[in-house]
Amino acid sequence: MATKISGFGFYVPDNIITNFDLEKQFDTSNEWIIERTGIQERRFITPNETNTSDLSVKAAIKALEMANTMPEDLDLIIAATLSADYNIPGMGVIIQDKLGCKDIPAIDIRQQCSGFVYGLDLADLYIKSGKYKKVLLIGAEIQSTGLNLTDKGRDLAVLFGDGAGAFVLENSQDNSDIIDSILHSDGKYYKELWKESPNSTQTGRIVIEDIQNGKIYPKMNGRTIFKHAITKMPAVVLELLKRNNITKEGITQIIPHQANFRITQMVAKRLGLSMDKVYSNIHKYGNTTAATIPIAFTEAYNEGKFKRGDLIITVSFGSGFTWGANLIKF
Ligand code: ACO
Repeated sequence: MATKISGFGFYVPDNIITNFDLEKQFDTSNEWIIERTGIQERRFITPNETNTSDLSVKAAIKALEMANTMPEDLDLIIAATLSADYNIPGMGVIIQDKLGCKDIPAIDIRQQCSGFVYGLDLADLYIKSGKYKKVLLIGAEIQSTGLNLTDKGRDLAVLFGDGAGAFVLENSQDNSDIIDSILHSDGKYYKELWKESPNSTQTGRIVIEDIQNGKIYPKMNGRTIFKHAITKMPAVVLELLKRNNITKEGITQIIPHQANFRITQMVAKRLGLSMDKVYSNIHKYGNTTAATIPIAFTEAYNEGKFKRGDLIITVSFGSGFTWGANLIKF
C-alpha cells in the first residue's frame, strides 16, 4: 500500500490587514512587527465568511479539482483546527455536509500548529492500512475573531491570520509520496500557549469573570515558545533524516510551520541550510496555525521550489507542546 498526494490547494480571504491597519487598532508599530516576526500583512475574514468550514470547503474544492476527485469519491475527512465553527459538533462533519460527501467518517484533530503534520501521518496510516482509499485532509483557521485586538492582546494579535489548506490523499500502486512521519508532544508546557476558558473544570464551562479577566483569549509565553520551536523543529528534521538514511543535502525544500520569520531563519541556521531551501511566506499571511503548511506547500510548488520526485520535509511546532515532521517524496 502506498499513499499518493493527488491534490492540494488553499484559500485565504480577500481582506488584507496590514501592520498599518493594526497600528490604528492598538499600540503597536509596523517596525516592531516586521523586526520581531517578518509579518507584513495577514488575511482576516469578511462578514460573509463566518465559519472556518467555509474557508475549508473553498480550499478543499481546489485540492479535489487538482486530484480530479468528486466529493462523493472520498471515504474519510480529517479536519485539523483550533477554531472549529462550534465547540459541538466538530468541523469535519460540517465540511462533509457542505461538500455533499457520502456518510463517510469525519475526524477533527486538535494539535494546533502541528495539526496538519499529525493529520498527514494519520491519513497516510489509514491509507496504507487499506482501510480508506481517498482522504481529504484540511488545516484551517479563523483566528481573527478569537484574538484580543487591544493593547492587552497585542503580542498575539499581530501574529495570526485566517486561511485554509487542503490535501487529497489516495492509495496508489506506485512508490509512496509519504515516506515517513515522526510526531512528538510534551504536555508539561501546555500553559505556555493556551486559552483557559471555556474549560471543563468549572460550573457552566464559561463564567462571566472569565470574560472580564480576558481568559477567553489565548495567552502565550513568547520567549519560551521561541526557544523550544528553534530547538525542536531542527531536532525532529534531523531525527527523520537519520531514520531514513538521508542527508540534508538530499532535501529539495523544507516547508516549516509559518510561526514567525525569525523562527524559520533559526531553523535554517541550525540545520545548516540556506534560506532558499527553507520556505517562508509568513510576510503575506501571518501565522494561520493548522493551515500554514498546506498553504506554504501549495505556494512553494506553484513557485517552482520543488517538483514531482523531489524530497520535501514538512515540520511544525506548536501549543501543547506538539511537534513533528513528514518526509515526502513528491
Ligand atoms: N507591538 C509592540 N510592542 C509589543 C508588542 C506588539 N505587538 N507585543 C509586545 N510588545 C512589547 C512588550 O510589551 C515588551 O515591552 P516592554 O519591554 O516595555 O515590556 C516588548 O515589546 C518586548 O517584548 P518581548 O516579549 O520581550 O519581545 P520578544 O523580543 O520576545 O518578541 C515575540 C515577542 C515576537 C512574540 C517573540 O517572543 C516570538 O517570536 N515568540 C515566538 C512566539 C510565536 O511564534 N508564537 C506563535 C504561536 S506558536 C507557534 O506557532 C509555534
